[in-house]
Amino acid sequence: MKIFLDTADRKAIATWAKTGIIDGITTNPTHLSKEGGNPKEVVKEICKMLPDKDISVEVTETEPKAVYEQAREIAKIASNVVVKIPCHADYYAIINQLVADGIKINATLVFTLVQSLFMSKLGVRYISPFVGRWDDIDVEGSDLIMEIRHMLDQYAYDTQLLAASLRGVRHVHMAILSGADVATLPITVLEKAMSHPLTDRGMEKFLSDWQKLGIKQFP
Ligand code: E4P
Repeated sequence: MKIFLDTADRKAIATWAKTGIIDGITTNPTHLSKEGGNPKEVVKEICKMLPDKDISVEVTETEPKAVYEQAREIAKIASNVVVKIPCHADYYAIINQLVADGIKINATLVFTLVQSLFMSKLGVRYISPFVGRWDDIDVEGSDLIMEIRHMLDQYAYDTQLLAASLRGVRHVHMAILSGADVATLPITVLEKAMSHPLTDRGMEKFLSDWQKLGIKQFP
């Protein structure tokens, strides 16, 4: 299973990449706007930081023709760019064309099993169901991950299931259990997922017991 970071924060990416568990990055217009500066340069830098990992970059145009052209330009930024396109009815034809052009697509803002099937038929590299945004309206978002996993296996599509909009460790837990290919984590969720109070407590106890020995150097 791959773990992506859901951010455009270059400092954080540099720090967390050292842990060895980061397999890629998902940015979105919100992240790039927060990071500030020239978004093309920011994306270039992120792509250079992780040259062999997929970096998702979302289109910001809205008219289908403009989305198509922008997607092609975004794809030229670096060979590891994956272009994120909202899973909207207006964009099916251009996603179809972009896949035929050899451009890697991450279909984003996916909310149903049927949308997922349609995107998989088009041959996108990733589908990104948004778990947390379902939860925001009181629907169990994690159920969708399990359903999509079943659908992808049933029809043997190559598309990878990227669990997105994960707001807490429970969402990550469910993504793992459901067999997501990728989970993209905001930094706050990654931090929480990496630590546990019982680990901390256990370390403190071992240390205090060890100190009773009064040994200065070991081994
Ligand atoms: C994923 O690709 C998106 O950038 C992200 O997961 C959206 O998360 P949010 O719903 O918490 O904004």
